[in-house]
Amino acid sequence: MAKVSVNLGARSYDIHIGANLLEQSGQIIKEGARSENLFLVSNPTVFSLYGAAVIKSCEDSGLKVVATLIPDGEEYKTMGQAEEVIGEAIRRGIDRESLLVALGGGVVGDLAGFVAAVYQRGIDFVQIPTTLLAQVDSSVGGKVAVNHQAGKNMIGAFHQPRTVIVDVHTLASLSEREFAAGMAEVVKYGIILDESFFIFLENRLSDIKDRDEQVMESIVKRCCELKAMVVEEDETEQGLRAILNLGHTFGHAVETLTGYSAYRHGEAVSIGMILACSLARDLGLMGAGEVERVTGMLVELGLPVKLPQLDSRSILNAMYRDKKTRGGKLRLVLPCGIGRAVVRDDIDDELI
Ligand code: NAD
Ligand code: GLY
Repeated sequence: MAKVSVNLGARSYDIHIGANLLEQSGQIIKEGARSENLFLVSNPTVFSLYGAAVIKSCEDSGLKVVATLIPDGEEYKTMGQAEEVIGEAIRRGIDRESLLVALGGGVVGDLAGFVAAVYQRGIDFVQIPTTLLAQVDSSVGGKVAVNHQAGKNMIGAFHQPRTVIVDVHTLASLSEREFAAGMAEVVKYGIILDESFFIFLENRLSDIKDRDEQVMESIVKRCCELKAMVVEEDETEQGLRAILNLGHTFGHAVETLTGYSAYRHGEAVSIGMILACSLARDLGLMGAGEVERVTGMLVELGLPVKLPQLDSRSILNAMYRDKKTRGGKLRLVLPCGIGRAVVRDDIDDELI
């Protein structure tokens, strides 16, 4: 088992990473819990696969679990659904000392984390991420949110979890598509922060596609270390943290213009990363050979890399509506070769 610490003073926590860790989740949760009462939030898909293991482990550790489920899907990451969960918490007597446990992918983690941030002005919560995307990205760093009709993650907070428990064995039940979508975020870390990690990914593609648990454990660990480093330096995204959004401004536009149904988030990010790399190449920040290496890896992982037939003006307009403008200017993350990235707000719209 591996442990990565996120050092944020009083809000510090550990990320526990290993195979079959769900069986030890009760013990790990108990270490930091202020009460024996847990409020587990999940969805029917994940709960039917892993709910029993988590509840058993918690009950074996003397904890009491009340569970509630939200429907499966991004379309349920809403304020209305958060209110339902809050209503259930009130009905079930969840108090300020109780601990909320989010068991699921990024949708469950973001919504349950948002509930934890606002319920009775904030209660502690634990993330048990079960998708690759959630294990390497959304469960770490404290961004919690629900969507608004007008845009993704428009209502949210920064609320760090108390603990993150990553069981890489849960990756075995993910569909090919969800696994690949998570790998897009993994590749992102290599491009923006760590060339040797990118090379490691290139060399281990076959083990990755086989979901070798040891290789996946070391991949999740490295991604969490890199994310922890960024979050420790810039918890509330005043500067450095923005680099984690590589490909996201293009990607969100693709998601918005295709009605959030054609692409998984990670797939849209894959297309967005190639657009960002191509722009970086045109600006002389990245070599053509490097863009080809990134493209080759994403294609090998089964990810889309080509922009669908969309009007370029509509894409640009959607990019301006994303949260990533500052002072009316579009802020784009652009790779500088492989292993480093910059944020720029001076790129001409025509070139974009
Ligand atoms: P998701 O939560 O919708 O999960 C994808 C699908 O996989 C769902 O159908 C889910 O039920 C299923 N699933 C989950 N675990 C499974 C398992 N082990 N086996 C089989 N099926 C499983 O999607 P996601 O990709 O995990 O997360 C996407 C969300 O994360 C988006 O809402 C995005 O905005 C958010 N996000 C947040 C952050 C952040 O920093 N907070 C970062 C990136 C993404
Ligand atoms: N997923 C981007 C961030 O956590 O900042």
